[in-house]
Amino acid sequence: MSLKPLLTIAMLAIGAQLLAQYKQPAPDVIDKKVEALLSQMTLEEKIGQLNQYTSDRLATGPLTPNSAKYQEIKDGKVGSMLNIRGAKETRMIQEMAMQSRLKIPLLFGLDVIHGYRVTFPIPLAEAASWDMNAIESSARVAATESAASGIHWTFAPMVDIARDPRWGRVMEGAGEDTYLGSLIARARVRGFQGKGLGNLDAVMACVKHFAAYGAALAGRDYNSVDMSDRQLWEIYLPPFKAAADEGAATFMNSFNDLNGIPATGNAYLQRDILKGKWNFKGFVVSDWGSISEMIAHGFAKDNTDAARLAMLAGSDMDMEGHAYINGLAGLVRDKKVDVALIDDAVRRVLHKKFEMGLFDDPYRFSNEGREKKVLNSVANRKTAREVAEKSIVLLKNDNQLLPLSKSAKTIAVIGPLGKSSTDMKGFWSVDWENDHLVSLFEGLQNKVGKQTQLLYSQGCAIKDSSRNGFADAVATAQKADVVVMAVGEAFDMSGEAKSRSNIHLPGVQEELIKAVQATGKPVVVLVMGGRPLIFNWTADHANAILYTWWLGSEAGNAIADVLFGDYNPAGKLPMSFPRAEGQIPVFYNAKSTGRPSPDGMPAPYRSTYLDLPNTPRYAFGYGLSYTSFAFSDLKLSKSTMQANETIEISFTLKNTGRYTGEEVAQLYLQDVTASITRPVKELKDFQKVLLKPGESKTITFTVNKDKLSFYDQKMNWTAEPGEFKLMIGNSSDHILLQDKFELFN
Ligand code: GLC
Repeated sequence: MSLKPLLTIAMLAIGAQLLAQYKQPAPDVIDKKVEALLSQMTLEEKIGQLNQYTSDRLATGPLTPNSAKYQEIKDGKVGSMLNIRGAKETRMIQEMAMQSRLKIPLLFGLDVIHGYRVTFPIPLAEAASWDMNAIESSARVAATESAASGIHWTFAPMVDIARDPRWGRVMEGAGEDTYLGSLIARARVRGFQGKGLGNLDAVMACVKHFAAYGAALAGRDYNSVDMSDRQLWEIYLPPFKAAADEGAATFMNSFNDLNGIPATGNAYLQRDILKGKWNFKGFVVSDWGSISEMIAHGFAKDNTDAARLAMLAGSDMDMEGHAYINGLAGLVRDKKVDVALIDDAVRRVLHKKFEMGLFDDPYRFSNEGREKKVLNSVANRKTAREVAEKSIVLLKNDNQLLPLSKSAKTIAVIGPLGKSSTDMKGFWSVDWENDHLVSLFEGLQNKVGKQTQLLYSQGCAIKDSSRNGFADAVATAQKADVVVMAVGEAFDMSGEAKSRSNIHLPGVQEELIKAVQATGKPVVVLVMGGRPLIFNWTADHANAILYTWWLGSEAGNAIADVLFGDYNPAGKLPMSFPRAEGQIPVFYNAKSTGRPSPDGMPAPYRSTYLDLPNTPRYAFGYGLSYTSFAFSDLKLSKSTMQANETIEISFTLKNTGRYTGEEVAQLYLQDVTASITRPVKELKDFQKVLLKPGESKTITFTVNKDKLSFYDQKMNWTAEPGEFKLMIGNSSDHILLQDKFELFN
């Protein structure tokens, strides 16, 4: 029999296995199994389940050398490993765990933040799509690929709301808005966990970093966080609650102290809120070494004290802190930690291992055949290209320079990111040998026909101050009909431990843009990076600007699709872009103050600067299209509502331009007078709508009491009677329809 039919049968079997819905045992069945196992475990074996080590290959934080790791696995002293990947390698390490007395399988965790084998746009870029299906599909592909590669658990989604672009980790989240961030948190959990734990294409999500890590003072990573309970509950906690409500399997705490208590040792966060009020049944893993870091915080005397404080506070598993494995047993013996707390943590961990089906078959995710079939498929790259297209934001398009004509004779690609594929990966990507990421230049080559000549000049480096390449860049521009410039950050200029005090375009890139612009050629500027950057001269003078972030494996193809109009950009900024670092933090849902300046312009004795408008360079929710849209016929079903009623809002959205395109209609509300000062506007709903030229559609939103609520002076979630302002627009700073209504008791 020839090989082909056998292969087909094998592939069908793999596909069937993948598609078959895993039959999860009932929770009480698992509970009984957990109890039965727990009753057999020694104290050391229990503590072993709460101990997580990294592989020797990769560290994402300071590494405590420990070559005895693998013997500890065989001795049942390790419950999980991170940074081990691949069907083969995970199987090999799992076999070590199967040599332990009770043969409890390991969990393999990895930072699958925006793709595993196929790299997707960074999460902040995906947030710019405002497209929950796209965002979910990205996480779905990441889960399918990583689960096929022996991974059980991703340390994602990162749901930290962030208003400070100096903080390098803004690239990992969903930006500044709680409402958008909460929807995205849900979409990512759905994507990662798919049809549910135990399915062979699902990985456990890990919601991080709990909590308020994105509010690090001065945008400096790992820095202190101090805020009112109201701000914590109103701005920073909702995305975590949304993820927990979506069924996220695990949480990860954060490095920062919150109001003087490190999150890892914070019982208010982990026990009162997460496991208490929210009734979370999963487990909490510390962030890398964060248990031991409570010593540096000045909160713990030594590692043993840190272990005590963390366990008392509800931190279940110790990632690379070596605190639990070295200190917990003694603490129990000295009666400083009740073994009941350890039992609770172990139950939570074992429960997930049962849910993942690992006791049925510890190797079920480590299948090399499936790995070969699933990773880097054409379909996965196609999804990555679609998500990348949706993530691109059109910031400027003077005189409709874009889309470019495909019959352009000569296009010059100029700038340090023009041929870069490495930088398209962005931070927190998984490294592969001979990985193929499509650079801008390659994407253009794939797109244009033989009649178009592509020229290239680097012009300058990303960071250094040499202008030696300017002459060649100018000469190259002179030969072209149109110039496409590619500027921005290197992949490692945003991300963890990448806070920067200066977020202008790095090096001499903006001078390069000036030099090329001076040729008089039409210039399209592509800005690539992991955060909002500052480029005021370019914003004022370039003909067209696209913000293309770091778009992953299909970056160049997606950008080319947009440049030539095969995809009409519809992205909207998930974060405000400051005019200057001195403005930070600048965000749309700010308070009015007692001395507002209505247009934000400098004004005497008003809450303004002398030297800069209050408004950002680009606002939250901003993004253009190749077409145009009209908002009209705003109607409210009524102008007053009782607390138990709703108001239906409708308006007409029309595509008044020449291209089919999508618009994100945004609904903002303002509680005009309340017992707590309220933001001048808050995003409460949005709809992304596709319309053909000339097509109209009636869009409706529903306002209910919850959309009017906030934490009052006693921290009760409540909606107070009074007037509300209703604003509808296509950006937080571009309101096209407005009205008001009254809430009665
Ligand atoms: C890092 C990050 C966290 C990540 C973990 C494991 O320090 O803070 O987001 O999941 O360590 O790599």
